[in-house]
Amino acid sequence: MPVVPKFLVGHFARPYIAGETLDDAVAKVEALTAGGCIATIDVLGEEVMDREETISITSQYIEVLDRIELERLDSNISVKPTALGLEIDPELCEANLRRLLARASELNNFVRIDMEDSSTTTATLDIYCRLRNDFDNVGVVLQSYMIRSLDDIGSLTPLGANVRVCKGIYVEPEEIAYQDRQKIRDNFMEMVEALLTAKCHVGIATHDRQLVERSIDYVERLSFTTDAYEFQMLLGVEANLCREIVAAGHRMRIYVPFGEQWYAYSTRRLKENPAIAGHVLKNIFSAK
Ligand code: FDA
Repeated sequence: MPVVPKFLVGHFARPYIAGETLDDAVAKVEALTAGGCIATIDVLGEEVMDREETISITSQYIEVLDRIELERLDSNISVKPTALGLEIDPELCEANLRRLLARASELNNFVRIDMEDSSTTTATLDIYCRLRNDFDNVGVVLQSYMIRSLDDIGSLTPLGANVRVCKGIYVEPEEIAYQDRQKIRDNFMEMVEALLTAKCHVGIATHDRQLVERSIDYVERLSFTTDAYEFQMLLGVEANLCREIVAAGHRMRIYVPFGEQWYAYSTRRLKENPAIAGHVLKNIFSAK
């Protein structure tokens, strides 16, 4: 990756990132809502090791919340704990999150805490549980490749947690994470079912047609209404499947990342999951 020229990474990343500015993100969300979707906005940046920078990122997120309100966008925000200081001091991260949640509450909006690699899982869930005691408008993410995730659901359901379920993007060792694709899928479904059964709102975050079909089958069979769950996808991925889900009457939230840190984000994603590089190359070769 270090030798891949920046313009090439930019070319790879273009479909997956709204742009460098908040205006770019607003324009993207407006286009998505015109197509029947809703959104969650992510300010790019992670693994921040400078206190002042975490406070500045929190302020940028507050600007995003204010802009969502001003433009009446149907969007919430997604934040990475390490961008708000988790690796410097969990208390700093929690304080930044409290500031964000207070503003989001005033605006009737919602904050989703993304899940990063396994070195952050316990700290992230601990912070989430403390915040959930004080705020209704906060959600978290669990990854179905993590062997611990079903147990984590057991701790989160009594709190009435709001959980996004995804497979997980980081490379994790087999001692703690399933490696088998079908096992990861089956665990994903067990998690979705456990959360819905416990009346926790679920974000079903996948582009995997098998999981989408199994989820739709489950919610229809058990007559869950669309206030119990939503589908979620990343910007620029599997647009056809996305349209099918929207046309079938389900809520679809698109993850819209923007910001100057697009280069670090893109190279990290490409390094962490070589399969994404494969998808991206496929996009390039099929581009007109
Ligand atoms: P899978 O990887 O099998 O992909 C299914 C199909 O989708 C592929 O065959 C391909 O066609 C297409 N596809 C998938 N990714 C693509 C890409 N980048 N480019 C082009 N095509 C692609 N992870 C995490 O660890 N913590 C988090 O907080 C989040 N948050 C999150 C939010 C949202 C809204 C989504 C959709 C995903 C995440 N993820 C995440 C990422 C998630 O863990 C996972 O890595 C990806 O969603 C890919 O897994 P799928 O379930 O889509 O299956």
